Amino acid sequence: MNIDFDKMDITRTPPTEEPDRQYYFIAKCKQWAEAFKQETGRIPTACVVTFGCQMNAKDSEKLVGILEIIGYTMTSEEQADLVIYNTCTVRDNANQKVYGRLGYLNNLKKKNPYMKIGLCGCMMQEESVIEKLRTSYRFVDFVFGTHNIFKFAEILYQTIENAGNGMIIDIWKDTDQIVEELPSERKYSFKCGVNIMYGCNNFCSYCIVPYVRGRERSRSPKEIVREIEQLVADGVVEVMLLGQNVNSYGKNLEEPFTFAQLLTEVEKIEGLERIRFMTPHPKDLSDDLIEVMKHSKKICRHLHLPLQAGSTRILKAMNRHYTKEQYLELALKLRREIPDLAITTDIIVGFPGETKEDVDETIDVVKKVGYDNAFTFIYSKRTGTPAASMENPVSDAEIKQNFDRLLRVVQETAKQRAGLYAGETMEVLAEHLNEQDADYVTGRLSNNTLVHFKAEPSVIGTIVPVKLTECKGFYYMGELVSQV
Ligand code: SAH
Ligand code: SF4
Ligand code: F3S
Repeated sequence: MNIDFDKMDITRTPPTEEPDRQYYFIAKCKQWAEAFKQETGRIPTACVVTFGCQMNAKDSEKLVGILEIIGYTMTSEEQADLVIYNTCTVRDNANQKVYGRLGYLNNLKKKNPYMKIGLCGCMMQEESVIEKLRTSYRFVDFVFGTHNIFKFAEILYQTIENAGNGMIIDIWKDTDQIVEELPSERKYSFKCGVNIMYGCNNFCSYCIVPYVRGRERSRSPKEIVREIEQLVADGVVEVMLLGQNVNSYGKNLEEPFTFAQLLTEVEKIEGLERIRFMTPHPKDLSDDLIEVMKHSKKICRHLHLPLQAGSTRILKAMNRHYTKEQYLELALKLRREIPDLAITTDIIVGFPGETKEDVDETIDVVKKVGYDNAFTFIYSKRTGTPAASMENPVSDAEIKQNFDRLLRVVQETAKQRAGLYAGETMEVLAEHLNEQDADYVTGRLSNNTLVHFKAEPSVIGTIVPVKLTECKGFYYMGELVSQV
């Protein structure tokens, strides 16, 4: 970001165009941070806590990028001058976690007169949540949603100006506006998530995401490629292309462009070594995409292919647009075409009306595909979704039994897949020092498996050959192979 915020004229009225308007408010906040330092003799601190998926993690990096430019020191401690919760609402326990922790924040706020509390993310797009905050959590200073996150600097400035005059709430129901070109922090210097699209049009009947993230909007391929080229110039070797349904990418562009075409363009970027993406939907996974993956040197050997359920009857009620047989055909085609591909999945147990026999179908798919890993969730009723009004005659105890039964099979299949590459030498992207032993570095194989190996910290951020000496359940121990 080559903008000199200190030289910006902030005595004029704010510009109306984005992102110029936000640059103006960043400069205003920066001036405030200077004044804070003068007044208190210390630098203001900020803590951003992220709940939920990669999309939220990426949004949090955007918030942190702006906060750092403003002059905050970032901390993981919630005892800070500014605390922001970037929330998730995909399952009810995510919401409960936030409410639980807000009480704790209120206590901290009583001890620090400067403290401001902000809430954003998916949960804030729900009217009932806003109502509850207004009535029972009045100590919260500002709230914004997923559609206007780009306005963060402006909302923060309003909060500073507004000090003590009640909660600022700025929520948009939907938008087709995409504002990029704002500062963003990167958690890792060598790998980075890149949004390729926002929102979701699938309306799976259990899922709240389309209601809180809005309709699908794709960024132009040119902009995406430009952003990745810039990241690579800054030292990034691995990108994760992010979207709720990445393989319906490009459908709403003026000149339609497929996800397979986008991958082909990204592959051409010199210096980029690894491409990951999250999440594809089985119904849109084209043969073109399989071809591109098969021949690619950069696309990682890992595909997260959410199953959700194995019973065709339940899949229909979930509005997933595929049958058990179609999913199996696709997964087995992937196994055949790309034998070294790791396949992982998401499964929901306890969807309204799902019987023991339905779960048997799910277990059958798990056995036939042999997932490398699967995330299993108990169905959570989300108000406003079609499934919320479906009757569920199945008791919680039965659901729990079904869940445990499935989990056992998931763990057995994953165990069978683990260790397939023991003894081989494979490329590992070294990511960070091992948390238990600083002589070791932790990295990932192309298929996403973790590997721990002895190495100097200087290898972090590079791809190195590692001999996989031993499989320990879900990770390998390895030895760095010296490069000549
Ligand atoms: N767009 C992605 C991710 C959506 S949310 C996808 O389609 O896969 C991540 C996972 O949460 C989903 O795959 C699903 O398994 C789970 N999930 C979504 N809504 C849920 C609900 N109401 N109850 C339980 N799990 C849910
Ligand atoms: Fe939710 Fe389905 Fe969209 Fe995924 S594809 S975000 S599960 S509606
Ligand atoms: Fe949660 Fe929103 Fe992601 S609801 S899973 S943070 S898109």
